Amino acid sequence: MCGISAYIGKENNAAEIVFNMLSRLEYRGYDSAGVAYVKEGNDKISVVKDIGMVENVREQYISEHSDLCIGHTRWATHGEPSKINAHPHLDCKQELAIVHNGIIENYLALKKMLEDEGHKFVSATDSEVIAHLIEKFYNKDDVLTLEDAVRQAIALLRGSYGIAVISSKEEKIVAARLGSPIIVGIGKDKDEYFVSSDTNALLPYTNSTIPLNDGEIAILTKNDCRITNKDAIPVQKKIEKILYDLQSAEKDGYAHYMLKEIFEQPRVINETMRGRLKVEEGLAKLGGVRMKDEEIRNISRIIFIACGTSLHAGMLGKYLMEEIARIPTEVEYASEFKYKFPVLDKNTLVIAISQSGETADTIASLREARERGANTLGIVNVVGSTIAREAKKGVYIYAGPEIGVASTKAFTAQITALYLLSLYFGRIRNTISGFALREIVEEFARIPEKVQKILDNANVIKDVADKFYNYRDFLYLGRGYNFPIVLEGALKLKEISYIHAEGYPAGEMKHGPIAMIDENFPTMVILVKDNVYNKLMNNVEEIKARHGRIVAITTEGDGDVKKILKEHDEVIYIPKTLPIFYPFLTVVPLQLFAYFCALKLGRNVDKPRNLAKSVTVE
Ligand code: AGP
Ligand code: GLU
Repeated sequence: MCGISAYIGKENNAAEIVFNMLSRLEYRGYDSAGVAYVKEGNDKISVVKDIGMVENVREQYISEHSDLCIGHTRWATHGEPSKINAHPHLDCKQELAIVHNGIIENYLALKKMLEDEGHKFVSATDSEVIAHLIEKFYNKDDVLTLEDAVRQAIALLRGSYGIAVISSKEEKIVAARLGSPIIVGIGKDKDEYFVSSDTNALLPYTNSTIPLNDGEIAILTKNDCRITNKDAIPVQKKIEKILYDLQSAEKDGYAHYMLKEIFEQPRVINETMRGRLKVEEGLAKLGGVRMKDEEIRNISRIIFIACGTSLHAGMLGKYLMEEIARIPTEVEYASEFKYKFPVLDKNTLVIAISQSGETADTIASLREARERGANTLGIVNVVGSTIAREAKKGVYIYAGPEIGVASTKAFTAQITALYLLSLYFGRIRNTISGFALREIVEEFARIPEKVQKILDNANVIKDVADKFYNYRDFLYLGRGYNFPIVLEGALKLKEISYIHAEGYPAGEMKHGPIAMIDENFPTMVILVKDNVYNKLMNNVEEIKARHGRIVAITTEGDGDVKKILKEHDEVIYIPKTLPIFYPFLTVVPLQLFAYFCALKLGRNVDKPRNLAKSVTVE
């Protein structure tokens, strides 16, 4: 979680640059923010930090000349959000400063050791031990450089970290990573360097980057960048280009990133399909999968591992893989998978789904899967991220930067990739006839325009939200392919509006949740024309019999639903498609519904409380 940024170079307004970078990273955490820099001719470090947003701290900063600065925007794990717990953290002499992303699991033992040696701690964070540990080694006669001290200090850390360190005695930044992303940005003339937790903050300055691998350390001066491994042996790294431009990461006139990202979905689905869905030939093909046909035929089991929204994409993937490719499929919370001693073999394909490619739980599970001999594949958005690099094979979803903390377009892009993958596997395994495949592929190609139709009528959904935003609780019901969608819709509502919502497979309602239904507990129900339509109609009757209010998402031309609804109920109509493709059309109204409820309630849509975009701690 959290965002780290740093600058060293020819500009003498380093702190301004770091503040700019931090505001582009703020979606990763926004409990507090801060910068540390060395004022020209000063031997102490200057720090400006406070609780709240980057802008709040920037207002407290009085411009000063400095060509070296580190900064942080925090998602608190240890110690409440407060000024004292905000990063950067200093050593006792205020001669070095650190920013940290991650968790130091052995911080209590280290703190005790350092306190016994006379170090004075001021914060309740785990991170502060890093500053004192570096101080301990830096002051020893035999350790001359900051990077040597950092190297010795991090050898003692357990847990995860992405750090950037500066000292008032040396003009350099030392950055290191283990489990939390660190990307070095190279200035255009190689006379300035940047450090960031993701590429988004680098975009205004450069598109040449060097992402660090675990165990690597970067030493940056004004005109040099050296990368070493943990034993100080130099590592040769390739420069990687950022593949998207500044504009695609901006709001483009939308009120919020989330709204922009919802509206981008037709284009994003097309991007994910491009070159992969062959309408003429009636098939789907995915280059990045790099599996021989024989290998695909031998898959005995698929396990999706993911968290949050990506997990919901995996749940839909299970329905698709089982129906289309006839492969037994399981879905596991990544946070559970790693610790349950999973039974795996080489014919099990473990698919990690992640927008960021940096979710700590998913990375840990992917590593576990590899160690236990499974075949692994990543479905990832962020190019060059840890999961993209560590999975043996990969499918990029090409959704572009997703800034809104609540994931929307990454979900539709993920499920697009999962449809493609299931169709691809189904064709190779001969579990789907050429005729059926052609019909599916042709309809698949029409999905973006059907999504567009829903977006064109977003006002209808706004009107519904205006009538329902004041409820405290919501039940979301769907079945089959739309069961993962109601889980996702309920998650969206919880995340950004803070209205409690529970997604349930509709058939389960009578086994418990129905007890909650009354006039104050409305239900969102997905009622599309598929093989369980009639069963869902029964559920709606059952709810109406108990005076529950209903919002139904149903298909254009369906007159039956209206007949059983009452005046306080609402219907949202979506275009018709094949039953298998409804998730694309049912998830979009749920995203919009959550958005408009949150808007009406005055919530911070793009940065909901307590959340962060990338959860890089376990
Ligand atoms: C959903 O809106 C997110 N806030 C969250 O649940 C997210 O999907 C999850 O943390 C997984 O992230 P990832 O896709 O980057 O791995
Ligand atoms: N564990 C550190 C803290 O709570 C860093 C958290 C983060 O990654 O933002 O301050």
